[in-house]
Amino acid sequence: MHVVVTGASSGIGEAIAREYLSRGAAVTLIARRRQLLEAIAAAAPAGRTYVLDRDLSDPAAAPAVLAAAEAALGPIDVLINNAGVQIVAPTSTTDPEAGARLLLLDLHTPLRLTQAALPAMIERGAGTIVDIASVAGLAPTPGMYYYNAAKAGLGAASEGLRGELRPYGVHVVTVYPGPVESAMEAAARERYESSGTVDRLPTGKPAILARMIADAVESRRPRVIYPWVYRLTRHFPNLTRWLTDAMTPRLRGAPPPRG
Ligand SMILES: NC(=O)c1ccc[n+]([C@@H]2O[C@H](COP(=O)([O-])OP(=O)(O)OC[C@H]3O[C@@H](n4cnc5c(N)ncnc54)[C@H](OP(=O)(O)O)[C@@H]3O)[C@@H](O)[C@H]2O)c1
Repeated sequence: MHVVVTGASSGIGEAIAREYLSRGAAVTLIARRRQLLEAIAAAAPAGRTYVLDRDLSDPAAAPAVLAAAEAALGPIDVLINNAGVQIVAPTSTTDPEAGARLLLLDLHTPLRLTQAALPAMIERGAGTIVDIASVAGLAPTPGMYYYNAAKAGLGAASEGLRGELRPYGVHVVTVYPGPVESAMEAAARERYESSGTVDRLPTGKPAILARMIADAVESRRPRVIYPWVYRLTRHFPNLTRWLTDAMTPRLRGAPPPRG
């Protein structure tokens, strides 16, 4: 089995890469920080990894990584669209160019990579696309304007693709992580004023999420929402949107409220 993981150098992507290596798969590791990718590859048996240090923020250029991965490790069985960045800041002062770059990496690149991977998967009648969206796409978080848009878009695209591909034997797993320990999650937490709510948010472990994703791919389940309490965002969207709206603390540095 050949698994391609974007954003494999840290956090959730690193955990997914390690999980698949432990299951005996061949893994293509893609991200910008080559040293981190090589450290993961060094711990794997020879010939089972391929390291590609690439910036994926240009969606038109991104599909070239798939051709390189196939040339190195053979046909792609699982494409995991995981690479992403986050902006947590007052919307009125967010640099729109930074927002546009986020949309390219977090939304356009996964869609382009998926489109590029599909013809070969459809031809073989097998393969899985895994999209790492976010609970922020289901219950959008105040202070994450562009990120909410990107993750809601990716989640919707991913959910709709599943039915389209069913007749061809190609599967889609849509993943909605709530807070999961990583550099991104720690940085986001820092951006909000301290509050009992944020300090007590149930927070997951990347290794557990990675295991759940690999299991979902194997048993062809449609989606993963982790930690489990965030499944409420799917089943009770109105309630959880109201709660998220009401309980998210103020951003540090936000303009003072009026009145
Ligand atoms: N942790 C959470 O609480 C949480 C919750 C919901 C969703 N997610 C999603 O999970 C995914 C992984 O996030 P994480 O929490 O594991 O954060 P992370 O540790 O910061 O990982 C982000 C990954 O994306 C890669 N990346 C960033 N910019 C890139 C670029 N221009 N080109 C190629 N790769 C790039 C990074 O590698 P390099 O810097 O080496 O390029 C890194 O491997 C993201 O899509 C995130 O939105 C996370």
